[in-house]
Amino acid sequence: MGYLIEEMFLSHFDQTMQLWRTSDGVHLKSVDSRETIGRFLKRNSGLSYVAIENNKVIGAVLCSHDGRIGFLTHLAVDPDYRRQGIGRSLVGRCLYALMGIGISQCALMLFEEDQNALNFFKTIALSGRVEMLMMKKLE
Ligand SMILES: CC(C)(COP(=O)(O)OP(=O)(O)OC[C@H]1O[C@@H](n2cnc3c(N)ncnc32)[C@H](O)[C@@H]1OP(=O)(O)O)[C@@H](O)C(=O)NCCC(=O)NCCS
Repeated sequence: MGYLIEEMFLSHFDQTMQLWRTSDGVHLKSVDSRETIGRFLKRNSGLSYVAIENNKVIGAVLCSHDGRIGFLTHLAVDPDYRRQGIGRSLVGRCLYALMGIGISQCALMLFEEDQNALNFFKTIALSGRVEMLMMKKLE
């Protein structure tokens, strides 16, 4: 069976957190608790997605907006399922959902050392609809 992209709900939290914890390039913070992610999903309903195969979360992304521009964060695909287009599909679904509420631009923050993520976003390009904001860790 192939994977499905579905809206993320709090019921996906445990598996999604497990995926994020083991993904370089996802920078979890103490604010990433069940309670705050639940609040995030409620405030930004219909914008965040998971990729599911055989009841297992194999990809996830959080998406929000400020009424003007969208924000993508916490994108991750299980290493066993990478380079199959799942990351591209997840980002595509977020952009589509943002378009549905009249938002055509999206931004995301990347640390300079996250070269894989940088290459991924440069490749998928998405007609300039995703702006990458580069961050540097202070010593
Ligand atoms: C970045 C990430 C989400 C990509 O997911 P993915 O499902 O493997 O990506 P896709 O298969 O949709 O890739 C689409 C295209 O992007 C490019 N790409 C993907 N990963 C790449 C990498 N590591 N290096 C260079 N190019 C890459 C490829 O051109 C790929 O197409 P191709 O396989 O036909 O050549 C995944 O590598 C990941 O979870 N990384 C760790 C977490 C992370 O860095 N997240 C970003 C934080 S915002």
